Amino acid sequence: MDIRSMDLIYNLEMERLNSIMDLKNFVLFKQGAEARIYKGVYLGKPCLAKERFPKKYRHPDLDHSITTERIRAESRAIVRCKNAGIRTPMLYLVDYNRRIIFLEYFENHITVKDYIEQCSDEETLKSLSLRIGNLIGKLHSKNIIHGDLTTSNILLIKKGDGELTITKKDLVLIDFGLAHLETSAEDKGVDLYVLERALISTHSAAKEIFINILNGYKEVNKNNFKEIYSKFEEVRARGRKRTMVG
Ligand SMILES: Nc1ncnc2c1ncn2[C@@H]1O[C@H](COP(=O)(O)OP(=O)(O)OP(=O)(O)O)[C@@H](O)[C@H]1O
Ligand SMILES: [Mg+2]
Repeated sequence: MDIRSMDLIYNLEMERLNSIMDLKNFVLFKQGAEARIYKGVYLGKPCLAKERFPKKYRHPDLDHSITTERIRAESRAIVRCKNAGIRTPMLYLVDYNRRIIFLEYFENHITVKDYIEQCSDEETLKSLSLRIGNLIGKLHSKNIIHGDLTTSNILLIKKGDGELTITKKDLVLIDFGLAHLETSAEDKGVDLYVLERALISTHSAAKEIFINILNGYKEVNKNNFKEIYSKFEEVRARGRKRTMVG
């Protein structure tokens, strides 16, 4: 089924379920700069609602088109990841009118950011970084650009009994509002650069983590790695120059 027909089905579903999915039944647990995140229940399952509220400083028309684009990007990327075997929250419902996306909520999760901060074992950190590299490599091999790669946007899902392992299945990518499809190496290089910057500003072991992420990336993206890495270096050099100029 193509994405357009899926949008249509979601819109019809949305109308039918509008009354059920009242945010009054949801609990706000995070207020960010872009969105409010709520937790609730959808058809008996834990559900997360992400509401992209209007920004007062933007012209309403522009605000509407940016928000619609973010919601569309997020829902499309989730469907594409699913097709590519990359784990993301399941997409339950998209409500363009109320600017809300309803997703599977992972009860037992820790963000990779928090996990890294509390992890003192080098080997664990190394295998986690390699897995993250595998994940991003796979994403890029399907030409999906995430657009906001940070360790807050990757979750580690714990087992029912609370046990935490680091396999492909335990890592979940989230927050696809800036995602898009692109085959060229340039955007993949930019994605890696965004991640490197985020790591440097968040983690003291950023350098080792990033080297291992690149090693993991290369494992699944051998053929294109050279080209993507050289684009990444170009983007990084441009970034440095900009910082020096001010
Ligand atoms: N599907 C999910 N299941 C459980 N928790 C989630 C899920 N999606 C997001 N979260 C939690 O909510 C936080 C924010 O989600 P998300 O990144 O989608 O929104 P955001 O507005 O971009 O926030 P941020 O600015 O922190 O990145 C995540 O860091 C995570 O802790
Ligand atoms: Mg986020």
